[in-house]
Amino acid sequence: MKKTIALYPGSFDPITFGHLDILERASRLFDQVIVTVAVNNRKNAVFSGEERVELIRDCIKKESWAKDIQVDQFTGLLVDHAKMVNANTLIRGVRQISDFEYEFRMALTNKRLAPEVDTVFLMPDEHFTFISASIVKEVAHWGGDLSSFVPGIVAEALKEKMKDIE
Ligand code: PNS
Repeated sequence: MKKTIALYPGSFDPITFGHLDILERASRLFDQVIVTVAVNNRKNAVFSGEERVELIRDCIKKESWAKDIQVDQFTGLLVDHAKMVNANTLIRGVRQISDFEYEFRMALTNKRLAPEVDTVFLMPDEHFTFISASIVKEVAHWGGDLSSFVPGIVAEALKEKMKDIE
């Protein structure tokens, strides 16, 4: 039978509990999942591509469901990366209706560029529907408690970054 390889792309600046929830769901559905960090020099990311990859690896290394998950990074078109790693599916998390318009446009664009690659939308647990990397950075900026948004190692890394930025 054909192996299902899914690519879970995002900025992951930084990874949150919401992302991890989606990743765990994806790991149950596909033979192999590759988390891929989009490195786009036009976007001002707090963490470098390498730092984001390392944080994701650190967050999942002790999880039993994450044994077969790989983490990498890409620059350029997502569908080109999907083809390079032989992924037949793209995973995107949809938290609320307001996400859907952008996600729908992105999925249709990717489908036009690579009709053989499908996008699958997954919903996170309802506890995580309001969490986004931007909200997390806002809370970190003002020194708020990050423990319900991101794993401890991410919170620590964010605190260090905030010192550098200020
Ligand atoms: O976490 P994000 O920022 O919502 O992720 C968006 C991302 C990185 C998946 C998207 O911007 C992307 O795929 N960028 C790569 C460039 C690309 O392929 N664009 C065409 C699809 S619109």
